Amino acid sequence: MLSYIEAIKIRRSIRNYDKKPIDDRLLMNVDNLLKNPAKGPFGNKPRFVFVEKPAAREQERVRLGTYGFITHAAYFIGGCIEDFEFSEVDYGYSLERIIIELTRLGLGTCWVGGTFKRKDYEILLKTTETEKIPCITPVGFKAAKKSLRERMGLVLTDGSIRNDFNTLFFENDVNNPIQFNPADKYHQALECVRRAPSAVNKQPWRVIKKDNKYHFYIMRDKMVGKTKSSDLQKVDLGIALAHFKLALEEQSAEGKWHISNPEICDMEYVITWIGE
Ligand SMILES: Cc1cc2nc3c(=O)[nH]c(=O)nc-3n(C[C@H](O)[C@H](O)[C@H](O)COP(=O)(O)O)c2cc1C
Repeated sequence: MLSYIEAIKIRRSIRNYDKKPIDDRLLMNVDNLLKNPAKGPFGNKPRFVFVEKPAAREQERVRLGTYGFITHAAYFIGGCIEDFEFSEVDYGYSLERIIIELTRLGLGTCWVGGTFKRKDYEILLKTTETEKIPCITPVGFKAAKKSLRERMGLVLTDGSIRNDFNTLFFENDVNNPIQFNPADKYHQALECVRRAPSAVNKQPWRVIKKDNKYHFYIMRDKMVGKTKSSDLQKVDLGIALAHFKLALEEQSAEGKWHISNPEICDMEYVITWIGE
């Protein structure tokens, strides 16, 4: 099986699925992952539901359309979380840990924040008034070919491109970029942040290291707006924190999350990791 760091590096958004069903043994693995989600760094746990499209269509009368962006997916994960200032961060963290486990099991996924019908998932999850559904993902085997839409270049982004390490991560202040050193455990964890998926591939995560502290920020992009239903760039940060933490766990590096804005720059502060 792939290591966590390997799985983080090979994961890609899969938008076209093979029609082959997921076998019972794998379905049980998925079920276990969804029953035991990780708490996010802000202390909240989402609730998830596994959806088999034909059964859900018949029993709950939901259509589960994705406006043509996702093709032939027969399974989806929907989820919700109590609404608070950082709910999307916890949601992104928790679902990305599941997505990386699914990658290790050989299953494809794609974060979907815009092109799905939230109403369908409200029905399936029986959400309360204080819960929100930030994103969903299809689950299944990758089809041999990309979707027609992808082949025609009609997806919004080229998902394979990432910004350079030294444009995202800094020491002491934003004028002092960190140069990647593969022997450094923390540089490996930051490299896993750099590989993370993000809405419209905007890569809004920035990190400033000061002593043994890693301060995480959002570099806001006007194109990826906040809506009433979700702040997708906070989901992006949650995903990045999951990659950072999984990479540290795998390299046996200890530490803890801490929330205290050091006031060292004017980007939007999210959280700090204190390394031991
Ligand atoms: C929070 C979030 C929301 C996303 N929403 C969509 C979406 O609505 N539709 C879509 O096709 N892709 C969506 N994506 C996938 C991104 O476009 C993709 O992750 C990015 O381009 C990087 O490509 P990769 O995942 O293959 O590495 C979303 C990704 C994230 C993290």
